[in-house]
Amino acid sequence: MLKFSNKFSNSRDAVVFFAGEGFSFKSKEGLFAENEEKKARLFVKGFQNLNQKEKILSFDINEKLKCFVVKISKKVSNFDAEELGANFCLNIKNSKQVKTIDFYPDSLNAEKNKLINYSLSFMHGFNLKSYDFNKYKTQNLEKEKSVSKNLHLVSSFSNEIEKKYKDLKAVEDGVFLTRDLVSEPPNTLNPEHYVKEILKLKQLGLKVNVLDEKKMKNLGLNALLGVGQGSVNKSYLVSIEWNGSKNKKDKPIALVGKGVCFDTGGISLKPARFMEEMKYDMAGSAVVVGLLKTLAMRKAKANVVGVVGLVENMPGGNAQRPGDIVKSFSGKTIEILNTDAEGRLVLADALSYTENNFKPKFIIDLATLTGAIIVCLGEEYAGLFSNNDELSDKVFKSGMEVNEKVWRFPLHKNYDKLMDSTVADVQNINYSGGAGSITAAQFLQRFILNNTPWAHLDIAGMAFSKKAANLNPRGATGFGVRLLNNLIKKYYE
Ligand code: BES
Ligand code: ZN
Ligand code: ZN
Repeated sequence: MLKFSNKFSNSRDAVVFFAGEGFSFKSKEGLFAENEEKKARLFVKGFQNLNQKEKILSFDINEKLKCFVVKISKKVSNFDAEELGANFCLNIKNSKQVKTIDFYPDSLNAEKNKLINYSLSFMHGFNLKSYDFNKYKTQNLEKEKSVSKNLHLVSSFSNEIEKKYKDLKAVEDGVFLTRDLVSEPPNTLNPEHYVKEILKLKQLGLKVNVLDEKKMKNLGLNALLGVGQGSVNKSYLVSIEWNGSKNKKDKPIALVGKGVCFDTGGISLKPARFMEEMKYDMAGSAVVVGLLKTLAMRKAKANVVGVVGLVENMPGGNAQRPGDIVKSFSGKTIEILNTDAEGRLVLADALSYTENNFKPKFIIDLATLTGAIIVCLGEEYAGLFSNNDELSDKVFKSGMEVNEKVWRFPLHKNYDKLMDSTVADVQNINYSGGAGSITAAQFLQRFILNNTPWAHLDIAGMAFSKKAANLNPRGATGFGVRLLNNLIKKYYE
């Protein structure tokens, strides 16, 4: 829990100072007893002059009070500050001794705006990194559970920092919702349970509309329905609207997410090894849901609609077969050659439905769509595909700015012939091999019917990681929420 104040707390057991080359160090009068103050000054001075790699050092002021010094350079960027915050979090996460912490950015003695920006980024990085998903742990809690912390940001600019932090808190809560949804095991988070979670967002002023199987059947969303027909869990298409623009009639920005709650591959069954990872095949939809929470919490001045297709891909008695032909919402027929290429079937209907129903300014979809994108880009970049250079550039830049990187791949009509079916309008895989991620995107493009600007983000390599990264512990990353939030804030509010 983060609080803001211009006074040090009585119960603190740690104080964090910031110091570095180019910034002189300032302590607050009366913060320490005189001899302690001396000790602190000497330590910080020594640290400043030390030419060492370590950015964070600590020493004990007395038995009850630890003092940390975070070293920063004058050229510190927002990323650097976020990463330092995250590193600091890692440092103290499991410490039972350090529970109540006073952060004292004023020690920097830097210019006001710099100090405020630095404080915001540092605390944001700290909070993003502090996420844990341990609700199913009942044993060894001592070792596994990180201790909850009371964080106080103590500054003479605390009011301003607190006001500005509200937007970052909205981002954190959105990212955490995404991570929670992605981390939840598939026996809990089936499509129906997922719908209930989304409905909770109505409290924030979001409008939620749920299409069940009957309604989808009437509308002709057969590509999506076909994927879910082998599961006992029913399929849904959910739209979530945030209308924050001053002009209520402003065309919305549309975000579409793949929500395959579990992907066994269906009749084209996946191998057993690592199949458990397919619980995160709903990550694209979770980014959409998390982002809408962020937008509502920070009352974004834009009209945005999120649409998520929620299904479970199972090999049941009524499961779709390779060879089946389905008629999609667009009217185009699809020959199913591999039931494991199911995400694109869900998205095909979700995309055409979104374009048709909401007439958006543009559409961005997010999906853990292909294993091939992991072969190309690993865990560093998401794949970007787009029919529109301007939109593509904006997505690219927005990602760079928050360190959620994307890399553009080509689309070209020549790839279409690889997906033309001999018996239907289109087939769902490319049998001649190669360009797995591009042909998947090329398939999606066929379901954008009115040339609406559209971008597709293949986040298969980014949504979940066995390793921790700079701003997240291992597991669900929430990749995409910060990118899209930045895109909307920068260009559309
Ligand atoms: N959900 C998978 C893609 C995926 C793979 C996501 C690994 C995350 C990690 C998708 O539905 C799938 O199975 N795609 C197939 C497509 C193939 C059958 C053309 C793939 O990538 O192998
Ligand atoms: Zn699949
Ligand atoms: Zn899938």
